[in-house]
Amino acid sequence: MTSTTPKKVRVPDLALMKQRGDRIVMLTAYDATMARLLDRAGIDLLLVGDSLGNVIMGLDTTIPVTLDVMIHHTRAVARGANRALVVADMPFLTYQVSPEQATRNATRLFQEGGAAAVKLEGGRAVADTVRKLTAAGLPVMGHLGLTPQHVHRLGGMRQQARSESAAHELILDALALEDAGAFAIVLEAIPDTVAEAVTSQLKIPTIGIGAGSHCDGQVLVSYDVLGLFDTFAPPFAKQYAQLGQVIVRAAKDYANDVREGLFPKINTQQPTNQRSCRPPCDPSPNDSHLRQASPRIARLKS
Ligand code: KIV
Repeated sequence: MTSTTPKKVRVPDLALMKQRGDRIVMLTAYDATMARLLDRAGIDLLLVGDSLGNVIMGLDTTIPVTLDVMIHHTRAVARGANRALVVADMPFLTYQVSPEQATRNATRLFQEGGAAAVKLEGGRAVADTVRKLTAAGLPVMGHLGLTPQHVHRLGGMRQQARSESAAHELILDALALEDAGAFAIVLEAIPDTVAEAVTSQLKIPTIGIGAGSHCDGQVLVSYDVLGLFDTFAPPFAKQYAQLGQVIVRAAKDYANDVREGLFPKINTQQPTNQRSCRPPCDPSPNDSHLRQASPRIARLKS
């Protein structure tokens, strides 16, 4: 008998995908509903990115995002994901102090958040930490190039590894992460040629964002892809839908209907199938079976 349940994506699958030349698809997710939809679409990895500071919390940078916030959103995404591998970002300064601090904080993302892997920013500077986490059984994804937690040091959100020496440094960082046990590396906002060089030198997959087409996979912020975040549109992101417009239209239609008295409709008919009755149906005092079916109605009437 063949199973219709899709096979869960697991950490070792990614190296196999690179070997086979299967491109890896990753999107960010921050809540259970979106995770369920993206999972149903067959997205391989769901990243609970600290970009939630921008798109969910309305912040200018990811720096104020805390570990508790990341755990909260990771738990929601993990509940919604069935097939996809859930990767949680370790937020600013929750892993840089020492490998011990990183282990304690990463453990919370696994135990309380239900993450299957964590992502952290940096190269050789965090290699010891990556080694310690992977040795403890906590899979780590690296993140090089434009690393938003370093926005102040980098002097803004701009392309990295533009000079030959900076590209060389980035390749050394990537090799150090692989050697320390990272299972994949996100390459953000670097020239295509540099991403191509890194990708060809590593056994582990690279996942690009604004790093050209030579990476082993691609990641984007789902709110950019879906046209939900219109404060800033990164030049490398492609909008596959304009859901922001759809939401504004639907909210306007709803507001109009409420104001015109068109919603809710005055219901003059008895429901034919009482089991399907939902508020605003108003059960009579004798409709005890409906009270059982809808605790909300019961609360309203008592
Ligand atoms: O936080 C995030 O969403 C990310 C991706 C942009 C890679 O790190």
